[in-house]
Amino acid sequence: KAGLKYFGAATDTPGFRERAPFPQSYSKYDAIFADPKEFGQTTPTNGQKWLFTEPEPGVFNFTEGEVVAGLAASTGKILRCHALVWHSQLAPWVETTEWTPDALRAAIKRHVAGVAGHWKGRCYAWDVVNEALDEDGTYRKSVFYNVLGDEYIKLAFQAAAEADPGAKLYYNDYGIERPASVKTAGAKRIVKLLKDAGIRIDGVGMQAHLHADNHPTMQDHVDTMEAYAALGVQEIAFTELDVRIKVPVTPKNETKLAWQKESYQFVAEACVRVKACVGITLWDFYDPFSWIPDVFPDNGSALLWFEDFTKHPAYDGIIDTF
Ligand code: XIL
Repeated sequence: KAGLKYFGAATDTPGFRERAPFPQSYSKYDAIFADPKEFGQTTPTNGQKWLFTEPEPGVFNFTEGEVVAGLAASTGKILRCHALVWHSQLAPWVETTEWTPDALRAAIKRHVAGVAGHWKGRCYAWDVVNEALDEDGTYRKSVFYNVLGDEYIKLAFQAAAEADPGAKLYYNDYGIERPASVKTAGAKRIVKLLKDAGIRIDGVGMQAHLHADNHPTMQDHVDTMEAYAALGVQEIAFTELDVRIKVPVTPKNETKLAWQKESYQFVAEACVRVKACVGITLWDFYDPFSWIPDVFPDNGSALLWFEDFTKHPAYDGIIDTF
């Protein structure tokens, strides 16, 4: 695929797919997912998060994450792993404990060693720190930041490098796809923080949860990726791509779908043009399994397959771009 290492789709653990509109959708979904002509890579949307992997202090559970890791292996796909240190979907104990800095340092090291160590050698890349930035580009006031400041970011990357020396280590966030955004400045600050400390960071992951009616241009993506690459990271990836549309999209609204197609094409074209861009991951591919309607109620139809398994115009748009 035109210089990219992969084009993939994230998927959830089948037990969590509660919104399948009809029973046959599971087998159709699984067939599209498995098809190597469609996807060469996957990411578990939930199963490797702290909530699932370390639900009680020091008690690890890899069941959910293993389902998708196993699917990746059985379907021959590259596995991107997601996410080691994140403020959301944390196990409740992490937020209710009264931490001393030393105790939280130890907890972060144990978590990263336990989880990245478990999947050692199987992850092409790890999202080591996820969403450390607030909307204004300053650090998010998470439990990690409140106790340790930006030191927690360094700790997490150091621990990940020790636990899985072969995995590419990424900083991952949303809203860091435009060159002049305050969050892009924040992401660059994080890359520099690690580089200046001599700590390994291999990649920046742009989640790219985009809006069809206000999306970055192709040049935005190119300039942003070049700016990250200029700081010395080897790789950039689009890690959670979806392009939400303001509902209703009935009947399949052509204007909105055309904006969406353009948005997907800009991502694909930009990734082809920038040498450091290694790949693109959709945040699932089938609209009924998208997280968007749950979190952004007036939005939907963000992926490439409609509920009835017909394809969005963006599908052909992406194929044409490659
Ligand atoms: C989302 C999942 O897709 C949902 O199923 C879950 O309920 C919430 O998290 N940024 C991230 C992802 O890094 O982990 C999030 O995934 C979407 C936003």
